[in-house]
Amino acid sequence: MIFFRLLLLVLTVSPYIIFAQSSELDKRVDSVLRLMTLEEKVGQLHQLSSDFVATGPITKDGDKQDRVRQGKVGSYLNVTGAARTRSLQEIAMQSRLRIPLLFAQDVIHGYRTIFPIPLAEAASWDIAAMEQTARVAAIEAAASGIHWTFAPMVDIARDPRWGRVMEGAGEDSYLGSRIAAARVKGFQGKGIGSIDAVMACAKHFAAYGAAEGGRDYNTVDMSLRKLYEVYLPPFKAAKEAGVSSFMNSFNDLNGVPATGSSFLQRKLLKGDWTFKGIVVSDWGSIGEMVNHGYATDLKDAALIAMRAGSDIDMESRAYSAHLSQLIKEKKVDTALINDAVKRVLYKKFELGLFDDPYRFSDEKREQAVWNNTTHLQVAREMARKSIVLLKNEVVPAVNKPLLPLNKGDNKKIALVGPLVKAIGDNNGFWSYSWPDDSSRVVSLWQGVTNKLAGATSLTYAKGCDISGADTTGFASARQTATAADLIIVSVGESATMSGEAKSRSQLQLPGVQEQLVKEMVATGKPVVVLISAGRPLVFNWIADNVPAIVYTWWLGTQAGNAIADVLFGDYNPSGKLPITFPRNEGQIPIYYNYLSTGRPFKSDTDNTYVTAYTDLPNSPRYVFGYGLSYTSFQYGAVQLNTNTLSKDQKLQAKITVTNTGKYAGEEVVQLYMQDVVASIVRPVRELKAFEKVLLKPGESREITFTLDARDLSFYNDNLELVAEPGTFHLYIGGNSQATQKASFTLL
Ligand code: BGC
Repeated sequence: MIFFRLLLLVLTVSPYIIFAQSSELDKRVDSVLRLMTLEEKVGQLHQLSSDFVATGPITKDGDKQDRVRQGKVGSYLNVTGAARTRSLQEIAMQSRLRIPLLFAQDVIHGYRTIFPIPLAEAASWDIAAMEQTARVAAIEAAASGIHWTFAPMVDIARDPRWGRVMEGAGEDSYLGSRIAAARVKGFQGKGIGSIDAVMACAKHFAAYGAAEGGRDYNTVDMSLRKLYEVYLPPFKAAKEAGVSSFMNSFNDLNGVPATGSSFLQRKLLKGDWTFKGIVVSDWGSIGEMVNHGYATDLKDAALIAMRAGSDIDMESRAYSAHLSQLIKEKKVDTALINDAVKRVLYKKFELGLFDDPYRFSDEKREQAVWNNTTHLQVAREMARKSIVLLKNEVVPAVNKPLLPLNKGDNKKIALVGPLVKAIGDNNGFWSYSWPDDSSRVVSLWQGVTNKLAGATSLTYAKGCDISGADTTGFASARQTATAADLIIVSVGESATMSGEAKSRSQLQLPGVQEQLVKEMVATGKPVVVLISAGRPLVFNWIADNVPAIVYTWWLGTQAGNAIADVLFGDYNPSGKLPITFPRNEGQIPIYYNYLSTGRPFKSDTDNTYVTAYTDLPNSPRYVFGYGLSYTSFQYGAVQLNTNTLSKDQKLQAKITVTNTGKYAGEEVVQLYMQDVVASIVRPVRELKAFEKVLLKPGESREITFTLDARDLSFYNDNLELVAEPGTFHLYIGGNSQATQKASFTLL
């Protein structure tokens, strides 16, 4: 009897419902598809941009609204606000079949409330927090009628010259995969169709981050093994987290533009990975196959892209101009079009748009969520977690590290630098400017003023601009600084210096900012340097000569408050670098998990006939996973449950971490592994697990990591995922140079 009840339960609860729903959905999708003309089908694959913002040329080709009315547009990007999305949807409702539009937007790190740039958030190593910021972004965007965000960007980036490093999770596949999944879950919330969820999009498929020379849009040439091992895992993680869509990429991969790659889109994504969602092209990337010399003209490009599995054409107008004809000429199989259209219709049904096309565009809800103070709190919390303390030396005068500053200690603080009073730059690239930003975004100046509430006298000098050679402001900066007890210098990049098409060949602080810092140090006063940027910068003089350095990236709406929290000890920094910081550009590409060579590098001082530079140490300026705290942590010995592991056994690695300092603080405990001998040369070490723990002063915690054969595996020469028997070394610690070691053998 119990068995039958259980059986009934199983049948009526999850599997049955899923089955019933999807077959019901199939029927509804098919019922619409059957009614559609070829032109209407092509329309669903045509994505237009409003003239609001763009990252490529906007084609002006007649009355866009009329095309919507004729059912010739399936989705729109860059339409902001509930009122606008609603009014455009009203036009779509005048079309013959009343198929609703999808509204898409690059909601990359917040919509109305701006969060730290994704690279900064990655520095928090706080997976739950990143899911939460994506959640809030979705809540705000969905209320404006946005159904679809073109995020997360999950491209692995090992080259800080590439401007889009700011948009991803850094250089590591494991960390990147964890973050990719969290962001997808955050955006999609309880699932597509929930009123506060947006469809996520894993982009850019694939290997866009490996552009040669770090130059955006450039060629990528790499082994499939490397592709599988380093660049694909975050995409796979996004797929497994249920991501609704993928975007292909501008680059060619081994000679084939990703947009025209059947291997990437049909074989790998829709085939091996059984991805059922939408694949959208990147902006104009179908048309760009002509420039690649891969398609003869726009028609040929449409043919190649459709065959290769690009479902939606964003802004190339290749599908709208040529797909119908290609079908009539029997060059494109109708089944391919039907499949692409069904993918789009499915999502429209899942979103509930066929039942109510206006359900997301809600001006009242928009007002309520846009002015939600909880969202600002989430932003402040995330911004604090994203900050990385790079250096904090003991100052002889007080015999303690310069930071945190004591609110009462400094009678007079000088805030110097071009970013002290910046507003928009705090938001970074891929954020929208809203009319009330000047009162909404908290500058550094405002944040410190809020913190000190008049108790300390604050003075300000800009000193110089972010770029340019003008040093005429130095004199007054010197004067302001000399009259103060402590100087906080805020330097870095402007928001438009890192991002799409913002590759840089030199990574020093732009303009005369480093000179300004030198001037400040020359006053003999204690100096704290804050660096705001969208990428790792090169700042060797500062690293060598300034006692306290805080890397703040671009932190968003609550930047100033968050920085003040860290400076004055209301938050103990816990960020760890998600990307290696080079000493100079000549070291690039630079990453911690490089392969073992036959002439391994020995030390920064011994470089004879080993893989090294003769004019530069091998070591980076700051290693992956590095970041300081106001407290200190001590690691015990690593203990394993076994020294010989069978393939179906789990390995447990235990370590005790103790807070040996005076402040409560969080530590990201990181576990790295090395496969010592294998059929393919393996990295010197690879991140396999981490855990972020909060410890009170004097508190110890035993942390247990559990790994299995999958964690020990890699892609062999036949692209099979294998775990090979042999010795493995394991290292646990607070950064990628972790020294607490244990070894075991996989049988
Ligand atoms: C970018 C995409 C973005 C698209 C739409 C392109 O230039 O590469 O990441 O989603 O523009 O704005």
